[in-house]
Amino acid sequence: MTIDNLSHVLPLSADSTDQGLLQIGGCDVKSLANQYGTPLYIYDVQSIRELAMNWVQAFADAYPDSEVLYASKAYISRPFARLLSELDLSFDAVSEGEIEVLSAANVDLSRVYFHGNNKTPPEIYRSMQLGVGRIVLDGFDEIDTVAQIADDLGITQPVLLRVSPGVDAHTHEKTTTGILDSKFGLPIETGLAELAISKIIEKPALSFRGLHMHLGSPIFDLEPYKLGIEVLAEFIDEICIKKLGVSVEEFSPGGGFATAYRDSDDPPAPKEYAKIICKTLIDEAEKRNFSLPHITLEPGRSIAARSGIAVYTVGNRKEVPGIRTYVSVDGGMSDNIRPALYDSIYEVIAAERVNDPVEEKVTIAGKYCESGDLLAKDVDVPRLISGELIAIPSSGAYQLAMSSNYNLAYRPAVILVENGQSRLMQRREKAEDLMRLDID
Ligand code: LLP
Repeated sequence: MTIDNLSHVLPLSADSTDQGLLQIGGCDVKSLANQYGTPLYIYDVQSIRELAMNWVQAFADAYPDSEVLYASKAYISRPFARLLSELDLSFDAVSEGEIEVLSAANVDLSRVYFHGNNKTPPEIYRSMQLGVGRIVLDGFDEIDTVAQIADDLGITQPVLLRVSPGVDAHTHEKTTTGILDSKFGLPIETGLAELAISKIIEKPALSFRGLHMHLGSPIFDLEPYKLGIEVLAEFIDEICIKKLGVSVEEFSPGGGFATAYRDSDDPPAPKEYAKIICKTLIDEAEKRNFSLPHITLEPGRSIAARSGIAVYTVGNRKEVPGIRTYVSVDGGMSDNIRPALYDSIYEVIAAERVNDPVEEKVTIAGKYCESGDLLAKDVDVPRLISGELIAIPSSGAYQLAMSSNYNLAYRPAVILVENGQSRLMQRREKAEDLMRLDID
């Protein structure tokens, strides 16, 4: 497989040397692996910037008043946050930890939206003390808690309400969120969303700004966004405005925008998502005669995934005649749980000889003590030799973010590359990191 056949999954700056060595950001992966070790996560600055700006541009072209929030849960660290805030993006955060990292990166916290189906009172307190711009309420107890803390701090907290439109976005069952049977969002259908808004508007310490929905992730179809927005538009018109007398100044259709993991994946472009989202909202607002809200979009995966690539060193090989050949690498489910959790499928590249012909089908196994620790099943590769490098593209989202110390693995080093230069973004963990919490 040549890199030309992988143009949907590789970082935008990907190239190869005449010798067939994969290059990202003008740096060859062999030299990077020598310098930083493997497993290694490489983020391409050009991709981060261009993919993020594609979202900003697509919505700026399709709607008068939009704001793109990067969904920090896909991957965040201080340097990564700085890169995105330099591009003038805002942020979605789901924990005190993410908010602390954004704060330490000097992100303007008034541009942070705090989500989550069960934010704890200390998290809420800390977020409000730091001045997060919006809290996206997702439960009745939380309405009381946020109002109480706002009172204590002597502030009025702007809030949105996360509602569930009852729309199935046909994602993996573990990542679908907009249906009735979900822990996320107050359902419109059962009347809970209406009840929550009546409760919010009774609280002087809360300023109701609008509604949020998020249908799931990754969503390859455009239709669910249209259906969800239609449900919300009816709710805005009939319940919020006509029945409760509140206006909806802000609206978020969430994130969940798809990215390619296999080169054959063909996700819609940002401008296609922008078109369906903005057109549906504009048409509904016109039909129902309400003014257009400020909209916020929350892409995470569609910025981070393709910007990042994971590099591993090949180790043991085991042939089970007539059944399968296992090629083990020096990482696995501790840095990428997605194949084990969602049966996610990835491309695999022989990173030092990208132009070599396919010779066999192998299964790339991780090194951790679990049979399900397989990174890629039955992939076509040249005959892989112990000591050589493989690369797995589209590795920038929800891999490091969901990484663990299972088997007391050290989390990998993470680097940024651009214009032939590399720099460490997060160093590899070492033994003392694993013991830093022990009380001995
Ligand atoms: N907004 C909200 C409210 C969300 O819950 C999420 C993702 C996003 C935005 C960003 O979605 P994105 O644009 O990144 O698809 N661990 C799973 C994905 C879980 C997504 C959780 N919420 C995975 O590895 O596929």
